[in-house]
Amino acid sequence: MILLRLRCSLRLFLLLLLAAPATPQVTVIVDGKVKAKLGSDIKLFCKVKTLELISQVTWQRKLSPNNENFLTYSKGEEPLHLTPFGERVRFLGNGDLGGSILIPNVTLTDEGTYLCIYTTFPSGTNEGEIQLSIWVEPSVEVQLNPVLSGPNPDVIAECVAFASKPAANISWNTYGLLYTSKEIPTQHPNGTVTIRSQLWMVPSPGLNGHQATCLVSLPDQIFEKYTNVSITNIQYAPQTVHVTVQRVKEDPPSIECWADGNPPATYTWSRENGSIPNDVAQVMGNTLHFSRGNTDYNGLYVCEATNSIGRNSHSVYLYKYSGAIPHCYTGLCIAVSLLAVLVIIAAVCYCIREQRNKYCREGDREVQTPGTQEERERVADTTSQF
Ligand SMILES: *[C@@H]1O[C@H](CO)[C@@H](O)[C@H](O)[C@H]1NC(C)=O
Ligand SMILES: *[C@@H]1O[C@H](CO)[C@@H](O)[C@H](O)[C@H]1NC(C)=O
Ligand SMILES: *[C@@H]1O[C@H](CO)[C@@H](O)[C@H](O)[C@H]1NC(C)=O
Ligand SMILES: *[C@@H]1O[C@H](CO)[C@@H](O)[C@H](O)[C@H]1NC(C)=O
Ligand SMILES: *[C@@H]1O[C@H](CO)[C@@H](O)[C@H](O)[C@H]1NC(C)=O
Repeated sequence: MILLRLRCSLRLFLLLLLAAPATPQVTVIVDGKVKAKLGSDIKLFCKVKTLELISQVTWQRKLSPNNENFLTYSKGEEPLHLTPFGERVRFLGNGDLGGSILIPNVTLTDEGTYLCIYTTFPSGTNEGEIQLSIWVEPSVEVQLNPVLSGPNPDVIAECVAFASKPAANISWNTYGLLYTSKEIPTQHPNGTVTIRSQLWMVPSPGLNGHQATCLVSLPDQIFEKYTNVSITNIQYAPQTVHVTVQRVKEDPPSIECWADGNPPATYTWSRENGSIPNDVAQVMGNTLHFSRGNTDYNGLYVCEATNSIGRNSHSVYLYKYSGAIPHCYTGLCIAVSLLAVLVIIAAVCYCIREQRNKYCREGDREVQTPGTQEERERVADTTSQF
């Protein structure tokens, strides 16, 4: 009987224990995780939900071995800023339920864990915890260094995201051209990371002029930067050299030389392996101007295009007929020319009419314009590579 009673009361006791409110309700509400951009003003939100008597709000930074109290506020009094860090902080609370603070111009060292602690009566202390992380925008730079053209992939460009937090993600767009990339991270003592991304491609001369775009981003799209770069750094020796002869009526001719190559080529002229006397012609840039009144310019002229990588040349043979071919000033000559034009027109008309006629299409090739009246120079296409 006694045993039964004892059991009964034990059960009642347990029941009471479960039903009774363990502690009066005090809830500290905070944003658990806060991200702030370096240099921004950031609010750490904190408030309390309770019907109890609020006596104090204290802010701490979690540090080892001991946490640091940096600000405390008692109702009806001015907030106390307890440390140099506390001096920077502004208390935003209204003394009742709100206990938020504002950290102006956050720095990397402000990163950490913050505790917002409410003292209430009769419960005592309750706290909320906030993780503050600082993110830092990288400064972005694309670097081009001279690359010698060749068949093997090489570093064409580097995209650098300096001192960001967290580490930046770098990707490339080469608009359809094959590439690989390689990332080299460098960790800094202040917690930031520099990422250097190398763009590897085959350095062919034709790559010059192509575009590439480097995209630097931070997680959650908080930062994205596209940087365009025009590839101009593939170096190669002059590959093709063009020589054109220019004549204006009876003036002495001039010869112009043009070559590709990177860096740009410089030009030197020579005649029959020798230098060209000043009274024969003058060199101006890439053009050789023959002197007025000089009739003896027959010969083989060589233009050599040179840059720091190599050289290449092309030659032209100039010779002058001493009036053997009549000039087209006489009426007869003009008449002959007109006749030739008429013959061509007639032939073309005939062909259009007889378009399906195979013979005509074959015959087409035999219809040629008569030789131009001044066929005085012949171009000798001798190209030589050194
Ligand atoms: C923010 O802090 C940095 C370094 O701590 C300082 O150089 C800068 O002047 C500050 N800016 C403002 C607006 O106070
Ligand atoms: C980096 O950016 C590229 C392109 O936006 C994306 O495909 C890739 O998933 C990103 N990588 C990381 C680790 O975020
Ligand atoms: C972090 O350190 C790097 C390297 O010393 C420096 O370039 C960068 O400015 C620093 N960043 C900040 C926010 O102090
Ligand atoms: C970079 O180039 C792309 C493609 O040529 C173009 O669409 C984009 O507007 C350019 N961006 C900038 C910042 O110049
Ligand atoms: C020019 O030089 C080349 C080789 O150096 C030689 O073969 C050629 O005979 C020379 N021509 C003249 C006209 O001297």
